[in-house]
Amino acid sequence: MINVTDYIEAAREKVDPKTWCYFEGGAGDEATLRANAAAWERWQLRPRMLVDVSELTTSTTLLGTEVSTPLGIAPFAMQRLLDPAGEVATARAAAAAGTLLCVSTLTTSTHAEIGAAGTGPRWFQLYVLTDRQRTLDHMHEAREAGYSALVLTVDVPYLGRRERDLRLGFENPPPDLDLPYANLFETTPALSWRDLEWIRSEMPLPLVVKGILTREDAELAVEHGVDAIWVSNHGGRQLDGVPAGLEALPEVAEAVAGRAEVYVDGGIRRGTDVLKALALGARAAFAGRAFACALAVDGENGVAHALSLLSEEIRLALGLLGCTSPEQVGRAHVQPTPS
Ligand SMILES: Cc1cc2nc3c(=O)[nH]c(=O)nc-3n(C[C@H](O)[C@H](O)[C@H](O)COP(=O)(O)O)c2cc1C
Repeated sequence: MINVTDYIEAAREKVDPKTWCYFEGGAGDEATLRANAAAWERWQLRPRMLVDVSELTTSTTLLGTEVSTPLGIAPFAMQRLLDPAGEVATARAAAAAGTLLCVSTLTTSTHAEIGAAGTGPRWFQLYVLTDRQRTLDHMHEAREAGYSALVLTVDVPYLGRRERDLRLGFENPPPDLDLPYANLFETTPALSWRDLEWIRSEMPLPLVVKGILTREDAELAVEHGVDAIWVSNHGGRQLDGVPAGLEALPEVAEAVAGRAEVYVDGGIRRGTDVLKALALGARAAFAGRAFACALAVDGENGVAHALSLLSEEIRLALGLLGCTSPEQVGRAHVQPTPS
């Protein structure tokens, strides 16, 4: 396993196709899924020479949380379908690496189990359920388990239609899987900007809104006082035909104009992808499937290895770009690839 793509191919071979379709697939024709992967090559890096890069750090802070690298683990659901230790395996690997871990509402491990796996930087992802009391109970249980920010996912008023799952008969939620907090069919389609105030009043942690793709919503999010905006199309799994995260990033970053942190995800396979995200205005990037594949192939060790591969790629690319830290990467470090 030399890179993340090796893990993706190995996971496809290893995992039962009836399960793998859920992890790999996207919605509709999967145009957005393909756009996520393709977007990175449409930007080129502009490296600067004769910069002293003998002292390099990949560390940064995200909402005040110290992390070892500007690439975090995106929340992805139902990890025990891929490995018997599931989220606990991912959490152990993330904590050992000092990488930011974002835990899904659709976790198959409890927050207490995940918290016991290690004390690395951790945020939790929230789906608001039609049952508000259970949503509150979930939030408070997560807070007690030591997470340092809440990531509210806003792009699932309804579940995208994922045709691979339908063709192969993936049952969602899977019948024998314990989901301690919710399944996807319990989320509310009535969620609106007003609910951000409710969440803020219930939860003093910094608030990240995940799933923003336009400058209009970025502006509204800032007006509603969010601490960070996570540009994402949910890995191409929701509305098909929307832009890649990277394509939406510049307009969001421009609208936010430094008033909140900005992150991006979608199709990340390489350290150089992360640097392009930073250059176009993100403070950090996240990957989902890259780590899901590593978890499927080799559990905790697989995630640890994928984290170290990507972190080393980021370090090398920073040095070759002529930057000594993630904060130094700016707009002048990229240009559009000539068509
Ligand atoms: C199998 C799978 C499950 C996911 N589950 C969730 C989830 O429960 N909550 C959420 O906010 N995002 C979820 N996502 C979206 C990821 O957080 C992230 O936006 C996406 O995976 C990034 O794209 P990438 O997989 O190409 O890196 C899921 C993605 C995948 C692939």
